[in-house]
Amino acid sequence: MLNALSILARPMLLALEPEAAHELTLRTLELGLYPRPPSPAARSLEVALWGLTFPNPLGIAAGFDKDARVPDAVLGLGCGFAEIGTTTPKAQPGNPAPRVFRLVSEKAVINRLGFNNAGHAAALARLRARAPRGIVGVNIGANKDSADRIADYVAGLDAFYDVASYFTVNISSPNTPGLRDLQSPEALDALLSRIMAARDAKIAEGRPSRPVVVKFAPDIAQEDVAEIAAALLRHRVDGIAVSNTTLARPGAAGPTAAEAGGLSGRPLFCRATVMLARVYRATGGQVPLIGIGGIDSGETALAKIEAGATLLQLYTGLIYEGPGLIARIHAHLAKACAGRGVTSIAQLTGARSEEWAAKPLD
Ligand code: FNR
Repeated sequence: MLNALSILARPMLLALEPEAAHELTLRTLELGLYPRPPSPAARSLEVALWGLTFPNPLGIAAGFDKDARVPDAVLGLGCGFAEIGTTTPKAQPGNPAPRVFRLVSEKAVINRLGFNNAGHAAALARLRARAPRGIVGVNIGANKDSADRIADYVAGLDAFYDVASYFTVNISSPNTPGLRDLQSPEALDALLSRIMAARDAKIAEGRPSRPVVVKFAPDIAQEDVAEIAAALLRHRVDGIAVSNTTLARPGAAGPTAAEAGGLSGRPLFCRATVMLARVYRATGGQVPLIGIGGIDSGETALAKIEAGATLLQLYTGLIYEGPGLIARIHAHLAKACAGRGVTSIAQLTGARSEEWAAKPLD
C-alpha cells in the first residue's frame, strides 16, 4: 500500500516547488508514512567499520535531514545509516529563495541553500529524545557570520559527542562564501589539528573515540590531491567523503544550469567518481571513503564501490527515483557479490580504482 502511494506521490512531489516538496517529504516521514524494505539487505552487504556494523553501505547524504527530524525514518527506509546536518552552532536562514532548482531532463539539482538550519540546540534536542538505534552521523558546519569558523566545527564536535555515531566535517559547501578555502592543504592542517585535539580531549576524559570524516568538493585541483591526502593521513582522519556538489556544470545546459550554486545528481556522477578514485589511490586505500554524487541505480552504486568507496550516500537520485531505489541498489550489490564469488561487498572496494582514477573528470 505504502509502496503504491510512494510511486503515486512522485509526480506530485515533482510538480511542487522543490523546497515545498522536500518539506512535504520530511512531514510524511515524520508521520511514519513510508514504505518499508521488502526484506532486510543481504548479509554480504554488511560493513564492519570504525567498530560499528553497518547493515548495508548505503545512506542518505547530508542536507536531506538538516535538523535531525527523521533519522529513524531514514533507517526504517532500509538505509544502513543516517546522517543529519549540516548543522551550525546558531540557527540561520540561509540564502534568499528561490534557492533550489531541478534540472529534470538531466536528473540533477542546483542548490544554493547556504546552510539553512535550526542550529545545534534544535538538532541535539531531537537526537537526545530518540532511543539510540542504528548508526546516525552528524554533519557539522560553520555559521556564515562566524569570526572563527574552526571554533564552530569544534563546537559541533563538543555538542554532539554523546549522540553522534561519527562526525562529518563539511568544508565543501559552495554556498557559504570562503568555506571551501578550508580545503587547501595549509588550511586543512589548522582545521584538523584543532578538531582532532578536541576529540583527543574527549578520549582523555574516558569517552569513546568518535570517527571523524572530512567531506570534500569534487572541484579540488588535481595538483592538490596528493598534498591533501598527506594531510588527512597525517592527522589520521577516519574517513573521507567524496563528494559534495560541484560548481562546474558538466553535461548541464539551459537557463536553469546558469543558476548559481552546487550541482548534484546524474551529471555529477563521473566527476565525483573520478575524484573518489584519485583520493583512494592517493591515500593508498588506507582511509575508508564515503562515495557520494550521482548514485541513481545499482550500477552507479557498484561503480562507486569499485572506484574506492566503502560506504555510499545519495540524495538527488531519491528525488527522481523515489525510495524504491534503496532496495534496488541493495539487490544489485548483493547480486554483484554473488556473481563475483565474494562474501562481502567490502571485497569489491577499489577493484577498479586505477581505471576510474585515469579518466577525465567530465
Ligand atoms: C546537499 N548537500 C549537502 N551536503 C552537506 O554536506 N551538507 C548539506 O547541508 C547539504 N545540503 C544539500 C542540500 C541539497 C538540496 C542538495 C541537493 C545537496 C550535498 C549532498 O550531501 C551530496 O554531497 C550531493 O548532493 C551529491 O550527491 P547526490 O545528490 O548527487 O546523490
